[in-house]
Amino acid sequence: MVTYNIIPKPNYYLHGNSKYSVSSNTKVLCHESFKAAADILTGYLKTSQNANEGSIKIALVDGLLPEEYELKITNNGIIINASTFAGALYGCVTLKTILMQATKQDGKAILETLVIKDSPENSYRGLMLDCCRHFFDVETVKSVLDYMLFLKLNKFHWHLSEDQGFRIESKVFPILNEIGSKRNSRHLTNKALGFESDGETYHCYYTQDEIKEIVAYAAERCIEVIPEIDVPGHTMSILAAMPELSCDGRKREVIDVAGVSDAILCAGNEETFDFLDKLLREICSLFPSPVFHIGGDEAFKGYKIWEKCDKCQKKKTELGLNDEKELQVWFMNRVCEILKKYGKTPVAWDDCMSDSLDSSIKGQLWRQNAVSVIKKQSLKRDIIVSPTMYFYFDWKYSITPLKKVYKFNKYKLGFTKPEQRAIGLECELWTEWIDGRDALEFSAYPRVNAFAEVAWTEFKNRNYKDFYKRLGWYKTYMNKKGINYSRVESGFGLSRAFIYHLGSEGKEYKKSMELKNKE
Ligand code: ACM
Ligand code: ZN
Repeated sequence: MVTYNIIPKPNYYLHGNSKYSVSSNTKVLCHESFKAAADILTGYLKTSQNANEGSIKIALVDGLLPEEYELKITNNGIIINASTFAGALYGCVTLKTILMQATKQDGKAILETLVIKDSPENSYRGLMLDCCRHFFDVETVKSVLDYMLFLKLNKFHWHLSEDQGFRIESKVFPILNEIGSKRNSRHLTNKALGFESDGETYHCYYTQDEIKEIVAYAAERCIEVIPEIDVPGHTMSILAAMPELSCDGRKREVIDVAGVSDAILCAGNEETFDFLDKLLREICSLFPSPVFHIGGDEAFKGYKIWEKCDKCQKKKTELGLNDEKELQVWFMNRVCEILKKYGKTPVAWDDCMSDSLDSSIKGQLWRQNAVSVIKKQSLKRDIIVSPTMYFYFDWKYSITPLKKVYKFNKYKLGFTKPEQRAIGLECELWTEWIDGRDALEFSAYPRVNAFAEVAWTEFKNRNYKDFYKRLGWYKTYMNKKGINYSRVESGFGLSRAFIYHLGSEGKEYKKSMELKNKE
């Protein structure tokens, strides 16, 4: 009896005791609305236009959950049932994974009979990519989306504005691209580590056509693209282009230093909100997702600037606020009002969570010390869970080994009650030290495989040993595809270190490359 290697592990899997064989000429009869899902089987099976043909049926049935599918391989045919396109697509992904693993004989794939009934534990299964610290071309972004579908991840959180670069074309404010998308070093610098500027002009952003192309590519894969414009902090690139939006109007430059800056938009200036209204209106129109990330993290350094700004202090007094944190909450609520006009619900990082924050704003947990606040907040707002110690995949494998990712348990973190609105999990690819596709793949894979199973498969069905066995097939697959997954899974060393920068001097990266070259 063969057990197919499927990640994320299906929540119900029953072996049969027979076989069924298919060839690339075997016809698939597919419900009209699922045609695009069946397309991923092209090359393995043939989609039929004839309603009477097809020993493989992909059917629309009522009564299944939004992302649920049933896959039955019997000795006289294959059936996939789903009530939505996403369910049908995930059924096809599972079938394709099985077809790739099936024994081949005389041009036929011999399949074991089975029944799979599967749906995700979490409706939000996300991956964030920071395209600001380093920029990734359209092909690389698409390759991430392909792998996301393979693992049934469904939210692509796209970090598009930062101190180190503004990465989305604005036709309303072209200066954001002329100045804000450009810095004077490809790599980020760090004095303590001796990383100096390489002097290269680094000028990149996604055009609106590229944004549309990626959004459409993601949609075909049932992946919702959630853009992030981070405010009021992390805004040096915006202020470099539009210094009039800062508290002091001082000229600033897009930074090439890694780390948190004190850049902050002035909260006491109505021009700030006029600007955000126009910019967000433009950006909202490019993304069909009803959700929009507004950042809100690490604004604390900018509080010192707000403290010295007459306009911000006047606003604080007028509103009867006690401190700059409260002023930030008010700021986020203003941005929320803007987004509501454009039909969007905001998400913000945990730093600005507070009872006075509009309860429609979803919260995203990242800091260990915010867990207790977020647990309380989860009773009044949706929460996305992405704790630094488990799901920050720019961190070394020695800090966040594969097994640790797999062992994450949201119940243990305290999300035990159904009334807590922890809607899902997200893994993060910050890219201060990830300078290209090679390094991105090394950082992401195979940890994203472990993450996907944690996000999809119910806790009672998870087992690391069993996962690790199945992962073997995915490694072979990545090898064949030339995906540079890490051969190091636990690493060594104690500190968070910089792995890839300026020629990839990290020990783990080097060791991984040696192992790769030995294969
Ligand atoms: C974050 O890592 N600053 C959200
Ligand atoms: Zn101000």
